This record gives sequence, structure tokens and C-alpha cells, in this order.
Amino acid sequence: APAYAADIDIAKQSTINKILKSGELRVGFDASYAPFEITDKNGRYIGFDIDLAKELAKAMGVKFVPVNTDFDGIIPSLLSDKFDVIISGMTLTQQRNLQIGFSDAYFLMGQGVMVSNKLQGKIARYKELNDPKYVIVSRLGTTGEEAVKKYLPKATYKSFEKEVDCGMEVISGRADAFVFDIPALENIASVQGKGKVFVLNDPFTFEPMAIGYKQGDPDFANFLNNFIFQFKNDGRYQRLYDKWFRS
Ligand code: ARG
Repeated sequence: APAYAADIDIAKQSTINKILKSGELRVGFDASYAPFEITDKNGRYIGFDIDLAKELAKAMGVKFVPVNTDFDGIIPSLLSDKFDVIISGMTLTQQRNLQIGFSDAYFLMGQGVMVSNKLQGKIARYKELNDPKYVIVSRLGTTGEEAVKKYLPKATYKSFEKEVDCGMEVISGRADAFVFDIPALENIASVQGKGKVFVLNDPFTFEPMAIGYKQGDPDFANFLNNFIFQFKNDGRYQRLYDKWFRS
């Protein structure tokens, strides 16, 4: 056997090979997060991440297979091979990165606050919400929840399973504020929350969104990073940004 046979065997174990062999890229996401991944009226998955996932499948010459799953259990689902990658508006955190690999960032954002209009004139900075008299909501298992616990530890905190439920709590006036990813807050505020809420959109955390994959796969990591570099710089990122954030 040639001296490099061992290397070839390692390459064969890469997720790349499984994807090429099956002809399918299985992408895990939680379709509850506009404008990155949602279900439209016809039951189709749409959003920035869905378009990104389709670009990735196209780059590999395979079919895009969507797998809608709960965000709270999305890492265990990747690890038990329910899908090949996570593309779900997932923030690359150091803690998550100990369990899964992450590509380079494809989107940068941070936490902000959607505040009930009844606090208009009273709250101008997120820190002012750090008081037990304020009820803050966020979504279970997200960096929004982590941010409340870390930066607003004195506030009264309530968690919900879905982003829309968090949004409705503030829109209806049951809660004072929703701490979450700014692009998602701006979407909720301008769609369901028009005239009822305002958004403090000066990010108080730094959060790169990245594609998650199973560790121990340098070939796939290399492919994903180079794909993102290409996607961000050849006009596709800008086109998708304009499509989902400027309309
Ligand atoms: N960026 C946040 C996090 O990583 C929230 C992502 C929520 N994504 C979703 N598809 N529901 O924790």
C-alpha cells in the first residue's frame, strides 16, 4: 500500500464522505426564529439560514434535507447523528464549543432588549432592568437566557419554550422585557409588536453565529470554513442580508 493510505482512510471517515455518498446534507434547526428559520403558510422552511443551508448543499452537489428540531436539544441531536450540521442561528459559545465543532462565523450579532411601551422614558439602558420589580423573559437554553442570568441577576426571570411566547409576554404587557438576539427582537417588534414595544438595539454581548458539526473532523471543518469565506465575500452574504433584513 502507498505510504499515504492511512491518510486516505481518515479522509473517508469524514462527514464529507457520508454526505457525498448519501447525496444528502441533513441540516438541523429550530424553525421558530425569524428571519433565520421559520415555517411559511405552506409549511415550507424559509429564512436566512435556510438559504445559507441550500447554498452549502449546492456547493457539495447534494440535496438539502431540513430537520426541524427543538433548539434546547439540538446539540445532543447532532451528536446522535440526527443531522450532519446545525444551522440554527446558533451562537458560537466557548461552552458549546467544548461539545461540538464550529465553523468560522457567518453572521455577527449580540443581545439586546425588547421593552414594553409602558416603560417608555423609564428604561434607556439594559442595566436599568436589573431590579426584582422587572419581569424579564427569554428562551430556554439560549444565550439570551445566559445573558439575563449573568447581566441582570436581580431581575425576576421567566423562561419560555419559544421565541414567539417570549415576544407575546412583553407585547401583552405581562412581562416588562425580552432579552434576546437583536435581529430576532427587531423582527418581532416590527411584526407582532408594532406600537407596543421598543428595542434597545445597542448590543451588550458579542455573538458570532456559526455552523456546528461533530468534532474530530478536520476535513469537514476546512470545507465549511472555506465555504463561509467564499459565501461572505462573493456577494451571496450581502444578497441574503438584503433579502431578509432590508425588506
Ligand atoms: N443565538 C441564540 C443561541 O444560540 C438563539 C438561537 C435560537 N435559534 C433558533 N433557531 N431558535 O442561543
